[in-house]
Amino acid sequence: MAGFGFSIVATDVKARAGTIRTPRGEIRTPAFMPVGTAATVKAMLPESVRATGADILLGNTYHLMLRPGAERIDRLGGLHRFMNWDRPILTDSGGFQVMSLSGLRKLTERGVTFRSHIDGSRHELTPERSMEIQRLLGSDIAMCFDECPALPADRDRIAASMALSMRWAARSRDAFGDRPGHALFGIQQGGLDRDLRAQSAEALTAIGFDGYAVGGLAVGEGQQAMFDVLDFAPSMLPADRPRYLMGVGKPDDIVGAVARGIDMMDCVLPSRSGRTGQAFTPRGVVNIKNARHADDPRPLDETCDCPACQSYSRAYLHHVFRAQEMISGMLLTWHNLRYYQRLMEGMRTAIAAGTFAGWQDDFHATRALGDI
Ligand code: GUN
Ligand code: ZN
Repeated sequence: MAGFGFSIVATDVKARAGTIRTPRGEIRTPAFMPVGTAATVKAMLPESVRATGADILLGNTYHLMLRPGAERIDRLGGLHRFMNWDRPILTDSGGFQVMSLSGLRKLTERGVTFRSHIDGSRHELTPERSMEIQRLLGSDIAMCFDECPALPADRDRIAASMALSMRWAARSRDAFGDRPGHALFGIQQGGLDRDLRAQSAEALTAIGFDGYAVGGLAVGEGQQAMFDVLDFAPSMLPADRPRYLMGVGKPDDIVGAVARGIDMMDCVLPSRSGRTGQAFTPRGVVNIKNARHADDPRPLDETCDCPACQSYSRAYLHHVFRAQEMISGMLLTWHNLRYYQRLMEGMRTAIAAGTFAGWQDDFHATRALGDI
């Protein structure tokens, strides 16, 4: 924990604004982490990602161990140097991606063996190997090795999976050891069940982590069910540590999560949508492919300060999307990442001012207007 710290500078009802300090720089919370799965935020230079306002990126153990390999990245000086991003990187631990992406897999007490989705080669991940890979990558915030079922699932299945993840959390903590300046976060599981969530929080707190994630959500349960869990799950975790909601989400998911006490989030949505022609704006999602944009000289979002909105028309963005030009994914990804960071900036400012309830009303009212 030395060299790593979290301070809350303001709270507004359940929402918190603060700062995570790491040797590679500060992370302003609530924070949105762009996803850089394969050692790149697709279609973006690292300096452009920074220019959107990102303080931290997410990387993936699963993808990087398969290609180009953790030992290779270590030999090349670590992930920060490899991908030219010198600020903090949080890495997910691999278990969740194995379950969703890999082919034939076998889960045991020891860990999981699986076939690569890239070339079918056989691999094993255990809590110990996941911690080793995250160390080789040079991750600033490592995540415990965990497992979670897609929802809906039987309560017995969810309970057994949570218990296994808690045994793996203890092994992750032991294997991670004491690494000044590097943090390890635990991951709460337990599906939608309050008792299982409480048991999981208790197990993690007893082990002791630098931060705590709420895992096992956004796996098919829907927004209302997720919010119902977020009404009680964050407060089960230590108030003085960062709380990270994994894999979330759409803009209104993010706002609802922050209102319920979440400090960090990540999602592929802004970057992936940018490559499929979907743009996020304060008035909702714009599909740039739509013919109504073909002659429109106006910017995508009048309120946005990104390059796509400052220097290009909707007509141009429509044209380059239809023509499948690379600049289409570049401009829309930049815009979407900037939209997400402006959303976070707006929430941080409102929480600090004690006006978050009104900010949320404005956010929803503006979306209700629809695209211009
Ligand atoms: N990403 C989204 N949800 C999860 C989760 O429950 N665990 C892990 N490790 N990663 C996730
Ligand atoms: Zn923009």
